[in-house]
Amino acid sequence: MEIKTISNTQTASDAELAEKITQLKKEKNAVILAHYYQVGPIQDVADFVGDSLGLSRKAEETDADIIVFAGVHFMGETAKILNPSKKVVIPDMAAGCSLADSCPADDFAAFKAKHPDHLVISYINCTADIKALTDIICTSSNARQIVESLPKDQKIIFAPDKNLGQYLVKELDREMVLWDGVCIVHESFDIDKILKLVEKHPDAHIIAHPESAPHILDVAEYVGSTTGLLNYVKNSSDKKFIVATEPGILHEMQRENPDKVLLTAPVGDDESCNCSECPYMKLNTMQKLYDCLKNESPEILMDEELRVKALKPIRRMLELS
Ligand code: 13P
Ligand code: SF4
Repeated sequence: MEIKTISNTQTASDAELAEKITQLKKEKNAVILAHYYQVGPIQDVADFVGDSLGLSRKAEETDADIIVFAGVHFMGETAKILNPSKKVVIPDMAAGCSLADSCPADDFAAFKAKHPDHLVISYINCTADIKALTDIICTSSNARQIVESLPKDQKIIFAPDKNLGQYLVKELDREMVLWDGVCIVHESFDIDKILKLVEKHPDAHIIAHPESAPHILDVAEYVGSTTGLLNYVKNSSDKKFIVATEPGILHEMQRENPDKVLLTAPVGDDESCNCSECPYMKLNTMQKLYDCLKNESPEILMDEELRVKALKPIRRMLELS
């Protein structure tokens, strides 16, 4: 049950591909942006590794001609919304997100129509269609700040992540109407197994991403975005952590803290599965990264009217955070 992970180390073929990718990147004036949930070799070859907010900012400010986004579809799409003159490619078009999938635009428009006096805050893990129906976007690192920036009597719809929404309702003591979406990865953590792990490691500190279920967040001593979790471990004098988020983050966490023990939070049901690994993020491989840079495909293309509508709530987020 106990798994100590340092995400995928580089193989010989990864090293070869990394060299080719670095060369091609220079020739094409491309930048590689990668999320912390990517496999280690992809993080190592990237120009910038970050959380959703940091990656959005980098995508907006880059002067590269091509943005290669090693993450999931909504992240590449957000890069295109923010910086439309750039060619944005992603390693695998099928790299989606259960949160984005949980919120179809037609259903959400009907839901929104039932609450006409509510302002809509949507977590960035959603499609451009949902962003276009949104007033302000947020990420896990600025959600609290965005909600707090609104007057206490402002009615709010929060979508699509019900766990992050519930966490904010509790933390900020403020009602919000929540869309019922979850991240399949963060939903899989098992509280009984986590508590058993604590019994075995009484000196371990539980830290969690806010997409985790409320009973997991209740036992966490720190809750934050991927960047927040990394900073917390780096700045802590404690030596052992149980990390309730996608284990790709341990690559950077262990690199920054070689002396600390990092344990992945155990998941329920099937002992043999890697259920805490995001199946979408993990569709990306070094080979696909190389191929998409070489072929400049698959490319994120967007309808301009939709892009402009989706940009507005992202801009509001960037102004507020
Ligand atoms: P962060 O913005 O915290 O990196 O989260 C992105 C994500 O998809 C978490 O599942
Ligand atoms: Fe979506 Fe969850 Fe994967 Fe993040 S970890 S991309 S929220 S499915």
